This record gives sequence, structure tokens and C-alpha cells, in this order.
Amino acid sequence: MGETIPSWTYEYELNENKKTYFDLINKVFDSGRLILGQELENFEKNFSEYIGTNFAIGCDNATNALFLILKSIGIKKGEEVITVANTAIPTVSAIRQSGGTPIFVDVNENALIDINKIKNALTSKTKAIIAVHLYGYPCDIQEIKKLSNQYDITLIEDCSQAHGASFKGKKVGSIGDFSAFSFYPTKPLGAYGDAGIICTNDIDKYQLIKRLRFYGIEKDYVAEVDGFNSRMDEIQAAILNFKLKKLEKNIFYRKNIAEIYYKNLTREFFNPIPIPKYSNCSFYLIPFYFAKNRDDFQEKLKNAGVGTNVSYRNPIHLMKAYRDLGYKKGDLPKTELFCKHNISLPIFDLMPIETTYEVVNRVSKVLDSY
Ligand SMILES: Cc1ncc(COP(=O)(O)O)c(C=O)c1O
Repeated sequence: MGETIPSWTYEYELNENKKTYFDLINKVFDSGRLILGQELENFEKNFSEYIGTNFAIGCDNATNALFLILKSIGIKKGEEVITVANTAIPTVSAIRQSGGTPIFVDVNENALIDINKIKNALTSKTKAIIAVHLYGYPCDIQEIKKLSNQYDITLIEDCSQAHGASFKGKKVGSIGDFSAFSFYPTKPLGAYGDAGIICTNDIDKYQLIKRLRFYGIEKDYVAEVDGFNSRMDEIQAAILNFKLKKLEKNIFYRKNIAEIYYKNLTREFFNPIPIPKYSNCSFYLIPFYFAKNRDDFQEKLKNAGVGTNVSYRNPIHLMKAYRDLGYKKGDLPKTELFCKHNISLPIFDLMPIETTYEVVNRVSKVLDSY
């Protein structure tokens, strides 16, 4: 066995761009402005243009981005927010932090929120829906938007894994009333630290969220509203401005890696989790469904020198922190099945093609042992 191939690394990306990053960091140091300066303004403008919304507000991370969105719509204690249980914990912790009650619905064959299940979960207390574009796979967001319009509910897109993905020709993050993106380093557009952003077309909410992000201040250190601290710093904004220019190329490259895996590794008991129709994915991950014992398979891949990612192993509705919500095993059967059987193969920016084929080699051998 050669060296272990990690499921994700920033090594290649950093090696390629280290000098540029040092130059960018120096430029920020020389500017005399470390927080809320020109770099962030530029990034907010560039990112909103890229996604296709009128406004963007840079944040310190996506958990707080989701929280600020919920605060901006005036969510009250006990109001309900419909979402999924196969997502990152922060989607749900942001709801709880805001005072809202998460309502979990099951997923469809793409492991994404099932619109029919949303319909069944609507009540007079429903305040918002958070649709999560998991793995870089877009949800059927136009249909969900029709539903949210019909019932006058806020639609929030959690695009933390889906920068640059589109559905029926429209970029995810441009269809809901609000969208939140994470720039956690592993993401298709990753910072070198923590960062996140909110996109919206609503000018009033844009102005409100800008205040909420900065202690409630509009100007002159006077709080207009009860605020928080959730600012993206200048160094991350400068790096993200540079990386944004490369995003489309990176997604194209990620798609190529996915196709190599699909072509060479698909088996009767090992299949890609189906990509939604009419979508262009950003391939944050390349998730497969392993129909036998996934944990045993993951262990064998580890021994063969292949790092993998399981997202998610534990569905959120069954986690200790959320027991008070009253869910039990079997409540979300498809979600629970995906959690038991999903596994993702290595993918990262500038992954060498030889490494991709080495993954194919090693995984094939393990698959052949079944
Ligand atoms: C779907 C989803 N939502 C929210 C987040 C939270 O992002 P952050 O780590 O920037 O707070 C993540 C990050 O893991 C995510 O994958």
C-alpha cells in the first residue's frame, strides 16, 4: 500500500497558490483595515453577482448566517422551521438558537428534502423551510418556492455544500427568500479559516441583517436593533475573492473526478446516490450507497489507504441534544437508511488525476473482495 489518500486535503490548492495568498494577506495588513473593509465589500459584490442576487452579507460562518436570517424574519419561540435530519448539525442548532422548533421531514431518493413530506408537515406555526442542498446536489427548489409562496412561509436555502450548483438553469441560493453559504475550508469554495455569507434580494432585510451582524449598529456606534457579532474578516474575504474566480473551473474538474468514479466503481451493491434530474451539481462530495455493511467497507478502505467520508452517520432527530423534540427510530426511514449506507470517496481541489485513478485501483480491489 502506498501513502493514504485522504478524503480531503488543502495541500495541492495551497501549494499552487501560497505566494498569492501571502501577497493578499500583506495587502490586507498594509490597508490598515482588518475588519469590514474593502475586501469584504468587493467579495459581497462579486459573490452576489455570481449567485444572481441583489445583495450579500459576509458573516463569520454559516451557522451564524442561518441564525441571523431567522432573527431577521422575527422568528418567535416555538415557531416551526421545517428541515431535514440528514444535514450538518449547524442547520438545526441555528434554528434552536433562534428560538425556533426544528420539524424534521424525510428525504427523497436523492437524499434531499421530500416536497410531499413538507406539505404534510405544514401547520399554523410553520415560519420557515430550510432546504439543504446536500453534497452539492440541488433540491427541487423552484417547486419548494411555489409551496412557500402559497403558504406565505419564508424559504431559506442552506447552500453550504452547493456553491455554484444549479437547478433548472438557476443557481442555488438565488431562488429562496434567503440563502446561507459556508466557506468552511472543505467546501467547494473554502476559506483558509471560518467564513460564511447570506444572499437575498430583499433590501429591507439586507439592511437589517447588516446591522444584526455588527452589534445592531448602522453608524456612529449607536445600536438601532439588538444585534450580534458575525463579521467576515478581511483576510478571508481577500482569499475568497481570489478563489471565487476559480470556482467554475474547480466544479468542472470535480465533475470529471465523479465521472471517473462512476464509470469504474459502480457495482450492483455500490451505486452513486442518484443525482437529481435537471441539476448541475457542484460535487462537494461524491456520495455512494453501499448496500451491504458500510462500516465494514469503510474499515477495509481505510486499511487499503483510502480515506472516506460518511455524511451523515447519525441522523439529527436521534441525537441526544434533540431528544426533547420527541422523535424516535423509524420516524424518518429513508433518512435513517442513507445514514446507514452512504459513503463518499476522496475529492478535493486540484486532486491529481493519477491520485483519482489510484483511488479507483484501491477501491476496486476492495469491492472485488465482496
Ligand atoms: C449543510 C451545512 N449547513 C451549515 C453548515 C455550517 O457551516 P459553518 O461551519 O460555516 O458554520 C455546514 C458546514 O459544515 C453545512 O454543511
